[in-house]
Amino acid sequence: MKQKKVLIQTYGCQMNVSDSEKIAAALRSVGYEPTATIDDADMVILNTCSVRAKAEERIYGILFTMKGELKRNPRLLIGVGGCVAQQEGETLLEKVPHLSFVFGTHNLHLLPQMVKAAEEGKRVAETSFIDDDSRLDLFPSQDMAGGVSRFVTIMQGCDNFCSYCIVPYVRGREISRRPSEILDEIRMAADAGVREVTLLGQNVNSYGLKAGHDIDFPALLRQVASISGIDRIRFMTSHPKDISPPLIACFADLEKLCSHIHLPVQAGSDRVLQMMNRGYSRSDYLRKVEMLRGARPDIHFTSDIIVGFPGESEEDFAETLSLMEEVRYIDSYTFIFSPRPETKAATLNDSIDKKEKQQRLEQLLAVQKKITGELHRELVGSELEVLVEGAGRHDGQIFGRTSGNRIVNFTGPAERIGSMQKVLITKDEPNSLLGMMV
Ligand code: SAH
Ligand code: SF4
Ligand code: F3S
Repeated sequence: MKQKKVLIQTYGCQMNVSDSEKIAAALRSVGYEPTATIDDADMVILNTCSVRAKAEERIYGILFTMKGELKRNPRLLIGVGGCVAQQEGETLLEKVPHLSFVFGTHNLHLLPQMVKAAEEGKRVAETSFIDDDSRLDLFPSQDMAGGVSRFVTIMQGCDNFCSYCIVPYVRGREISRRPSEILDEIRMAADAGVREVTLLGQNVNSYGLKAGHDIDFPALLRQVASISGIDRIRFMTSHPKDISPPLIACFADLEKLCSHIHLPVQAGSDRVLQMMNRGYSRSDYLRKVEMLRGARPDIHFTSDIIVGFPGESEEDFAETLSLMEEVRYIDSYTFIFSPRPETKAATLNDSIDKKEKQQRLEQLLAVQKKITGELHRELVGSELEVLVEGAGRHDGQIFGRTSGNRIVNFTGPAERIGSMQKVLITKDEPNSLLGMMV
């Protein structure tokens, strides 16, 4: 019999990338091997994101183009998972008649039976939440295949309910994986050649607190650092309100912990931060930045920033700009506020006009570009250690990442991929650095 193939397309955040690996494993169990093109696919899975309206609209656009694919291959099965699936549930089957099945963010374990039903021509949707720790036992384990750097999910869901954010509604309540499982997975990864792990969760700083695990996030970091074979540890995402002195101490004590923290500030004015329900003030945030710098002087900060939150005045926005200058983020992800279903902010009066929002976004981008340029130039002439991850942009080049999470391209042999290498930074570029081996 011909091998069945599935094309899995992933949108949105790293959570979805990680879930797509689990989806691939679940589908293997019912006879589907992953493929990279739709031409030989028997099934397409869209693993979707609904964090902003644009992300959601894009999925409907792609589903529309699938009609053409169905003309070519009428037996093609189309499944939608992830956050749009969770948000829409069964109504998605009604809205998109050529869709075969819909599975929510807590339902990956049901995929094998759903695919069997779809193969028999049934249209199914499974999007119920499982809001206790048992859900962790239900997820098919991830593939351990290859790579030098790997993401390891340590928790799922979010309890923070920032007023603009749909994530708590589409990912459910926060739950933490058991420390023993996380550590076992990382040991296995290290045995398979992985050198760097990124611990993943919507808010890693609150790891274990609710679950009553015997260790919290800083303690977990220390245990991960004791695993031999793992040279580098990163984590994502940190909520500023939960950055604690023990976590800051990890940056002083743990050499393997990389000199980078993604610490989304979202806005620079106390008024907007409060409307966003972020749970910290501008000065709380800046104090934590200072403490982290105290523990790790070469640490780089990155951020997420939203402009045009309902009621954001010009003064509020000016405070976001000045905060960017104060922290000197090496990079930031900037977004125009997008009202999302169910969220509190969607009910607020969104009076700022579109053009104004676009202008604010462009101002942020310009300031960020300037700061990134300055920080990159400051790195020229320094010797940094990179973990070599793959082939570089040009022939004969390879690239690696610095501890501060900057990409360095340099001339070097492919055999160095997977190992640590000292490089001298020779030139700055807008989004990366050039270097030479030393
Ligand atoms: N858990 C992470 C990331 C969540 S989503 C955190 O707490 O930081 C990634 C980013 O998308 C957020 O940090 C925020 O900047 C942005 N975002 C979320 N909802 C948004 C909305 N409704 N409109 C615009 N940007 C949004
Ligand atoms: Fe969304 Fe806030 Fe949770 Fe991040 S912490 S996922 S922004 S609700
Ligand atoms: Fe998007 Fe869902 Fe992640 S909404 S950002 S894919 S948690």
